[in-house]
Amino acid sequence: MTNVNRASYSGADSMPLDGETLEDLVAFVTGGTRGIGLGIVEHLLKKGASVCLTSRSPSGDEVVEDLCARFGSGRAFHLVGDVSSRRDVATCVDECVARFGTLDMVVANAGVDHGAPFLDMTEELWNEVVSVNLTGAFHTIQLAARKMAGRGGRIVVVASTNAFFVESNFTAYNASKAGLIGLVRSAAIELAPNAITVNAVSPGLVATRMTESLIAHQVHGPDYLRHIPVGRFGVPADVAAAVGYLVSPAASWITGQQIVVDGGQTIGIHVPAEIVESK
Ligand SMILES: NC(=O)c1ccc[n+]([C@@H]2O[C@H](COP(=O)([O-])OP(=O)(O)OC[C@H]3O[C@@H](n4cnc5c(N)ncnc54)[C@H](OP(=O)(O)O)[C@@H]3O)[C@@H](O)[C@H]2O)c1
Repeated sequence: MTNVNRASYSGADSMPLDGETLEDLVAFVTGGTRGIGLGIVEHLLKKGASVCLTSRSPSGDEVVEDLCARFGSGRAFHLVGDVSSRRDVATCVDECVARFGTLDMVVANAGVDHGAPFLDMTEELWNEVVSVNLTGAFHTIQLAARKMAGRGGRIVVVASTNAFFVESNFTAYNASKAGLIGLVRSAAIELAPNAITVNAVSPGLVATRMTESLIAHQVHGPDYLRHIPVGRFGVPADVAAAVGYLVSPAASWITGQQIVVDGGQTIGIHVPAEIVESK
């Protein structure tokens, strides 16, 4: 295994490496206490990074106890903060740097998916979803990028296939995720001279607390699954693997892009062979 040191993120010496680890690097992951965020945290810890993970609930302290037991004492650290509060994000980023001495990778993952029919949707619901999913990612990546500006880094945003393949009754969520793609491209073009890459991973339906009622639904669960060509729902590790690639030195020439991780759901529409007329 080749160790990656911080210099690997800073420009021309970022050559693709085989079997690299992320040893000595520090990651900051919002919403890292469960679901996709926890999968990303575990992946980064396995690769050797130290990780600060955030959530609104203090229950993340128990998650960190388990992570430290599995990956090594002091490797993970939980901070309480709401990403929709700029002050909370600033405090968490500062505490992460104070704890680990630096910041190399940021994953803006925290999100909520409250929905309502378009005609009934309240301004409060719209504001809540946009302030967490979009404004929260803005706070996270801007405040973190300021810490990285001198020596490079990696930023990944967890968007969604809803950014371009919308689901009904989720207007605020769809719009917030589409906005994230614009945010990623905008930050990427300005941060490239600082050797900071900014990319998105857009998952399809991944089994987490956010999706458990849909997956467990007797009718809608199997119906949804029929639209996933690979034939299964995603798991957090599927998304974490894509994030792991984007934070690696091998991805140093990729910025402003989106990797879709959806089992093929948004490729196109299946037309059954029996109704295709052969000429
Ligand atoms: N699951 C899917 O199918 C799917 C598909 C596409 C995209 N995504 C996206 O992936 C991300 C993670 O989703 P998930 O399915 O893993 O959801 P989840 O299981 O509900 O986990 C969400 C995480 O975010 C934290 N969080 C929520 N609101 C927060 C806030 N305002 N400030 C800080 N942390 C907050 C939660 O902790 P607390 O509640 O304690 O704050 C938790 O750690 C979201 O951005 C979601 O939109 C999910």
